[in-house]
Amino acid sequence: MTKRIPLIAGNWKMNLDHLQAIALVQKLSWTLSDAGHEYSSAEVAVFPPFTDLRSVQTLIEAEKFEVVLGAQDLSKHDSGAFTGEISGAFLSKLGCKFVLIGHSERRQYHSETDETVQAKVAAAWKHGLVPIICVGETLEELETQGQAAVPVAQTIAALSGHETLGEFVIAYEPVWAIGTGKVATPLEAESVAKAIRAAITENFGAESGQSRILYGGSVKANNVAGFLASGEVDGVLVGGASLDAEEFAGIARFQ
Ligand code: G3P
Repeated sequence: MTKRIPLIAGNWKMNLDHLQAIALVQKLSWTLSDAGHEYSSAEVAVFPPFTDLRSVQTLIEAEKFEVVLGAQDLSKHDSGAFTGEISGAFLSKLGCKFVLIGHSERRQYHSETDETVQAKVAAAWKHGLVPIICVGETLEELETQGQAAVPVAQTIAALSGHETLGEFVIAYEPVWAIGTGKVATPLEAESVAKAIRAAITENFGAESGQSRILYGGSVKANNVAGFLASGEVDGVLVGGASLDAEEFAGIARFQ
């Protein structure tokens, strides 16, 4: 079995204009390399707003920063009369490797369903992007269905109905832990990651079962190591703490 490379992903959400984005990526890269840590054993990715992508791409390429670019969403359509939508083709062309799909904020505020998520996963693969499929239970779902049922069902729904599966990453983000300061325990994250992996293996085969599974929800430099210790969780998806270069670099240097 090949070792899974940890992925440390920073979802900036709707924060930072393109000038602030440049400043943050510059500081992040300096902080990472100044510290001389073995951070390169992890893949470090940032997910700026769409309007920042071109500036960040230019900077990363010019300075040869070891930071990977991702987008926060994409359209399920390829091109055409879809005002306000962004095609995966454009994101690929901008050097994006990853795209977040089905973040709980998209599901909650933009009524994205499992069907939308599935269609967007197909669009990501079509345009050569690696989807990071976000799954997670609300507090109510946690109380009524337990912790793993909803994330497992969302994972299966997102991966079903495709002729073949491309590369993907699952991000387990309990909705009740996002931006709240409430964190799942490492043991909880490990057991949900295990349940997701088992469901993927059972439904889609052993190779897909080796996909990376991340934890997200109030991750900070001082709690990241706990999540990664078991080897079941292969990285983290960070919101608020990714807006601070030193804090995010601290997370990327979890080893
Ligand atoms: O996508 C990351 C996320 O929703 C977690 O946000 O601020 O709790 O780290 P935060």
